[in-house]
Amino acid sequence: MPTLGVCYYPEHWPRDMWADDAARMVEAGISLVRIAEFAWSRLEPARDELQFDWLDEAIDILGKAGLKIILCTPTATPPKWLVDEMPDMLAVNAQGQTRHFGSRRHYSFSHAGYRDECRRITTILAKRYGRNDHVVAWQTDNEYGCHDTTVSYCDAARSGFRDWLARRYQSPDALNRAWGNVFWSMEVTDFAQIDLPNLTVTEANPAHRLDFARYTSERVVDFNKAQVSILRKHAPGRDIVHNFMGRTLDFDHFDVAADLDVASWDSYPIGFLEQFGRDEAWKNWYMRAGDPDFQAFHHDLYRGCGRGRLWVMEQQPGPVNWAPWNPDPHPGMVQLWSHEAFAHGAEVVSYFRWRQAPFAQEQMHTGLNRPDNSPDRGLDEAMQVSREIADLPPAAAQKARIALLFDYPSIWATDIQPQGADFDAFAHIFGWYGALRRLGQSIDIVPADANFDGYSAIIVPHLPMMSESTMETLAESGAQIVFGPRTGSRTTNHAIPDNLPPGPLQHHLPIRVQRVESLRPGALVESHHDGAMQRWFEHLDLGNEAKTVVSDRDDRPMVVAKGNLTYCAGWPNDQLAENILRRVLKSAGMTVEPTGDDLRIRDHIPLRTIVNYGPRPRDASHLIGKGDTILIGSRELPVAGVTIIKRA
Ligand code: GAL
Repeated sequence: MPTLGVCYYPEHWPRDMWADDAARMVEAGISLVRIAEFAWSRLEPARDELQFDWLDEAIDILGKAGLKIILCTPTATPPKWLVDEMPDMLAVNAQGQTRHFGSRRHYSFSHAGYRDECRRITTILAKRYGRNDHVVAWQTDNEYGCHDTTVSYCDAARSGFRDWLARRYQSPDALNRAWGNVFWSMEVTDFAQIDLPNLTVTEANPAHRLDFARYTSERVVDFNKAQVSILRKHAPGRDIVHNFMGRTLDFDHFDVAADLDVASWDSYPIGFLEQFGRDEAWKNWYMRAGDPDFQAFHHDLYRGCGRGRLWVMEQQPGPVNWAPWNPDPHPGMVQLWSHEAFAHGAEVVSYFRWRQAPFAQEQMHTGLNRPDNSPDRGLDEAMQVSREIADLPPAAAQKARIALLFDYPSIWATDIQPQGADFDAFAHIFGWYGALRRLGQSIDIVPADANFDGYSAIIVPHLPMMSESTMETLAESGAQIVFGPRTGSRTTNHAIPDNLPPGPLQHHLPIRVQRVESLRPGALVESHHDGAMQRWFEHLDLGNEAKTVVSDRDDRPMVVAKGNLTYCAGWPNDQLAENILRRVLKSAGMTVEPTGDDLRIRDHIPLRTIVNYGPRPRDASHLIGKGDTILIGSRELPVAGVTIIKRA
């Protein structure tokens, strides 16, 4: 049953408001409330001076009103006294500057002393509230990586990295060989000679940087795991969750989520569009809605991380405060985003936040209520959603027929050495995802070590570090598979493979990349009729059995195939990506249902949810079958319209 929640900060408001807040939440159809993720200074104003009376009372009031609680560990905001006790817990940026106290996330994941403090406060909280009947779930920390805080170039990271390298390579010689340190006389004779890969004269060795990315990602995993194991012990049976963010790539979310029960994320569609949108025209068109695929992508990605279990922990309720511009969503958008999340398998959508704070950093961020406690538009829409979901038949986010493979280490490898200023690995993957969505597909996003059984088509847009075993599992799946450019182009040590790219794929599809080129903005390698490559193009040498599917105007291969395997030798524009996918989906026996401008669909049997992200009404008749029943909305979707149909 889809559930609504809200983020609430009892410590921000007088106690005499709490009971009324709780009653109004329940009245609005909200049943979960997340609290305390930033409350360390109120829980422990000075070392060992614990103050729990307020939290006891808040939990009691909320719980007795009928709400269930998601309690958080407060480790994203270490208090000042703690920072003063160990100032070297602060992170250091790539320029070597310490990032100071005075906002949040001021810690280094590598600092052993801070990790111990996190264990201590987590244990205290878990022992006190772990078996509390009102507390049904725990959130660890808050948004790992937010404000670029995954990576730190501090002393703790330097010594941690050296130890990690010593374990990985055993001898400096082995490391020298793996990294290719003979180049530019970078050889070392002792692990203690290795520095972090910042502040070098020109770029540091990509192998050095890639290992530092791995080390850094593992620190986030360890940090989270430490809290999870305490919570598992003292809070039995409760869901443990963390709230990830959009387009955060500097740690492996599959690895962190492996220790969680549920993966959740914080969805701010309009803020994200401002930061990551395609171009100005796109941003203007979607300025009050967000990118039509961005939310869906992250729902699918984090559902994959959570092995099927997904929540939206924070849902944008109105204008936010943190993007360069913060437009008002179209009326209806909060409702649309909520239904869309449920359609992608979210069990919970929780709004950020109950009431706008009149003070401090986020005073310009809307809530469901205004600072004077009058209800804002977001609250009306949340209430509307709560009425609508109550009437929907149960639906499941069952396995899709298409998998899209997403591999964090491969993204690190390319971001370290893009070889083209605009080769943004995430944008490239997201481009393929968007093309699938415009063709009306529902998609699972999976890691490189996924079980691929049962998929009819698998899209592997970006896997430079493809292992032999991933290649074999893919080949055995029997699915139609599309590989993007740069597949198999790097070893685990960030070197070019002996047999040249696409490395292990050559055993199944006999092609060899002879040369690669990156293309200036606007430059295209055009095919005869099928679209073009932009940003990146590879010159292929074809073995006998590989056949050219699309060639450029000089008859060079752009897309090649053998049997069920297709290789795309560049970054396809929208038209080319759609053409490749149409062909492949057809071979996989699947139906393509072009959604048309601005509309998107998601099938969650027996339902189909149709949404309109554009600023104009759109007719969706082509997406509704003869025997289908409209449960919510209509054929003509207004701006921010949602139509939910039951399929015949
Ligand atoms: C999230 C964060 C919240 C709040 C929100 C504002 O990134 O988890 O604490 O800052 O953004 O949009």
